[in-house]
Amino acid sequence: MIIERKSPLYDGKSKTIFETNQSELVIQYFKDDATAFNAQKKGTIVNKGLLNNLTSSQIFEFLAKNQIPSHFVKKLSEREMLVKKLTIIPVEIVVRNRAAGSICKRLGLEKGKAFSHPIVETFFKNDSLGDPLISEEHIFHFGWATPAELKEMKASALKVNHILKPVFESIGLELIDFKLEFGKTKDGFVLLADEITLDGCRLWDKATGESMDKDRFRHDLGRVDEAYQEVTHRLTQFFSRSL
Ligand code: ADP
Ligand code: TMP
Ligand code: ASP
Repeated sequence: MIIERKSPLYDGKSKTIFETNQSELVIQYFKDDATAFNAQKKGTIVNKGLLNNLTSSQIFEFLAKNQIPSHFVKKLSEREMLVKKLTIIPVEIVVRNRAAGSICKRLGLEKGKAFSHPIVETFFKNDSLGDPLISEEHIFHFGWATPAELKEMKASALKVNHILKPVFESIGLELIDFKLEFGKTKDGFVLLADEITLDGCRLWDKATGESMDKDRFRHDLGRVDEAYQEVTHRLTQFFSRSL
């Protein structure tokens, strides 16, 4: 079936969602735009859209083979991914293997502290409020997700961590933390959505300890484009052997 791109449904900070000639399918178009600190910092990363589309497509395919379904249907072009149209659940699930970023500030933890088991946190997906940390009480009280849906999202996020940690390990990177989004189909099924890319995870080079993710952009560490290229290259080599 030929998929035709129709009008934009939503123009986000790093992606645009387009309607298609199929009412249940949308196109995610990956841009080079980068933001940080709730969009206070803005810029572009050379070829990020192309690299993130490739990274995310390969990861979603690999997760599907490991019994984690997602909205991913297929990669359509360099910057376009065909996905199932979902109603996004406004709860971001963050999994942390080591302390970095906001948890260090919030709890006064030393950067790099290893956790004995992965810590799962939930954030309210709301740009104007700066995506605040929220509890289960908030999620259930305000009806953002049901207890069963949240349970499924957390379990799925932990499985993704379990599957992806060794993948990154094998290409010389440690998965420090990452953020996932989920959405619901018309029939009420919860599916992993959005993207899994360097924009939404922290990866530290095992040999040098260097950040190989969007922290290079957030904190002006230099060699931002190179890090995105390098990680995508390593992942592509891994997936060409295993997909
Ligand atoms: P933001 O909304 O933070 O600016 P993006 O630039 O990544 O984020 O925009 C993409 C938007 O599309 C996000 O809000 C994301 O939740 C949403 N989205 C992701 N997957 C789907 C999907 N399958 N169906 C509908 N919307 C989706
Ligand atoms: P944090 O340390 O800022 O809470 O972020 C934890 C991880 O989740 C980090 O890899 C970045 C990612 N993340 C996003 O990509 N978007 C978000 O809105 C949040 C809260 C986290
Ligand atoms: N994606 C968020 C923003 O645009 C948070 C971040 O990546 O730092 O501000």
